[in-house]
Amino acid sequence: MHDTIGIPILVTGGAGYIGSHACKLLHQAGYRPIVYDNLVHGHRWAVRWGPLEEGDIRDRARLDAVFESHRPAAVMHFAAFCYVGESVQHPGKYYRNNVAGTLTLLEAMRDHGVAPLVFSSTCATYGDPRSERIDEDHPQNPINPYGASKLMVERMLADFDRAHGLRAIALRYFNAAGADPEAEIGEDHDPETHLIPLAIAAAAGTGPGLTVYGTDYDTPDGTCIRDYIHVADLAQAHLRALEALLGGAPSRVYNLGNGQGFSVRDVIAATERVTGSTVPVEFGARRAGDPPRLVGDASRIHDELGWVPAYASLDAIIRTAWDWHRGPALEREDRD
Ligand SMILES: NC(=O)c1ccc[n+]([C@@H]2O[C@H](COP(=O)([O-])OP(=O)(O)OC[C@H]3O[C@@H](n4cnc5c(N)ncnc54)[C@H](O)[C@@H]3O)[C@@H](O)[C@H]2O)c1
Repeated sequence: MHDTIGIPILVTGGAGYIGSHACKLLHQAGYRPIVYDNLVHGHRWAVRWGPLEEGDIRDRARLDAVFESHRPAAVMHFAAFCYVGESVQHPGKYYRNNVAGTLTLLEAMRDHGVAPLVFSSTCATYGDPRSERIDEDHPQNPINPYGASKLMVERMLADFDRAHGLRAIALRYFNAAGADPEAEIGEDHDPETHLIPLAIAAAAGTGPGLTVYGTDYDTPDGTCIRDYIHVADLAQAHLRALEALLGGAPSRVYNLGNGQGFSVRDVIAATERVTGSTVPVEFGARRAGDPPRLVGDASRIHDELGWVPAYASLDAIIRTAWDWHRGPALEREDRD
């Protein structure tokens, strides 16, 4: 194994939910995470394991200065906008940030001779599922601008590899969930649209009651089924991808899911078990564009990089989110 001590890794979006967990793990593994974030959705308090360089991925001059001063050995690229609904209403905002921003970053990497890259892609690049479990060869037909923006980046990565030898691993996550098991950092989106933090806030009385969109889907209990993957497991996969690339591995794409589907009712029941409180629920109509079932097949990354999720049970995932919510999350108001 190579010596990791102090190797600088640029982490775009490292002040956000998943990026901050990756920074903690990078630090524990001996790397030096350099967070590059414009704090549009990220938090200063989430940057704890290396310096924060405030900047926008669309700002080439700022990127040049940061590449020159830190000389990172690789980039983990989390910075993006990621609200599906907003992307439908404001597609330009998504293409400008996620696609044009990433293009600026890739050109800067090319010109500074920085490679490789680990990229946050998404199961939203697949669109409507055609199989029970989605593997990496499933057709990619995104049904919203957010998914399309990520697919465009995957295409750019393939082209930059071919033309400039810029190797990249794209990780297509399913639904990220949970918090740092030591409750130092966790999920804090504004607005929050993810089911688990909404269910927890409803149970704790710190948020409104939970609306369940659709109870007449063709699933065992009538509610939508999703694949929840713990944020610490995502961070582990990023570290494995980084180390594979630093060891010379070629470009690749991998799904990141836990391979199990949980329904909205499963999430509510588990939240009630973990918190010991009832989740107040309202039942609403289906939302346009919500497929009944989205479950990933992550056997490729298991077989090739030896990655397996450590937090596969829903209760384990929700327990970490609950520990974060009732501890630091409730005090975080005055942190930023
Ligand atoms: N959360 C999920 O379930 C999920 C699922 C699939 C893929 N992803 C992808 O994972 C990545 C991280 O998601 P997250 O949930 O941590 O989101 P997040 O909003 O918490 O983090 C994104 C970070 O990027 C920063 N950012 C955005 N635009 C920027 C720009 N132009 N320049 C610099 N910084 C910028 C934000 O300030 C924020 O800190 C995103 O690329 C997202 O598309 C997330």
